[in-house]
Amino acid sequence: MADYSSLLTHCKSLLVQPTRDKFARLTEICIYLQKEVEVYDWVGFYMANHAEKTLHLKAFAGMPTDHEVIPFGKGICGQVAISNDNFLVDDVSAQDNYIACDIHVKSEIVIPLFSKGVNIGQIDIDSNKIKAFTEKDAKFLEQLNTAIAEKLF
Ligand code: SME
Repeated sequence: MADYSSLLTHCKSLLVQPTRDKFARLTEICIYLQKEVEVYDWVGFYMANHAEKTLHLKAFAGMPTDHEVIPFGKGICGQVAISNDNFLVDDVSAQDNYIACDIHVKSEIVIPLFSKGVNIGQIDIDSNKIKAFTEKDAKFLEQLNTAIAEKLF
């Protein structure tokens, strides 16, 4: 099992590098998590445009995706933009409202990112393993998003 405490500590250190802009820092976090956690095969941050009701991919690690812009309501990510709730998917093939980015993906977790109470985006992680994510991942990613909101937004 992942050592969530040391993952969080290292991610926080990546958030305070003085010379990097916020999306460069988020990219560093994506690269780090994808490398460190075996089942995290793709890690990305989508940010919300509330006027357009769209999500925009701003940082990621893993295979490039065609889905850099996702309308609110579409796919797992788009549903989280509206629900404001965590979404853990054990088996993506069982989901009707799902956007496939890579045929190897079997499970997914999306955790909203709140700044001053507003859902401004989300972290999205895909795994090539079925049922890869638990409530421990959700808790860790909530803590990470809280730290990101405090430092960057
Ligand atoms: N699977 C997501 C789309 C984003 S990709 O995973 C990178 C969804 O259904 O919203």
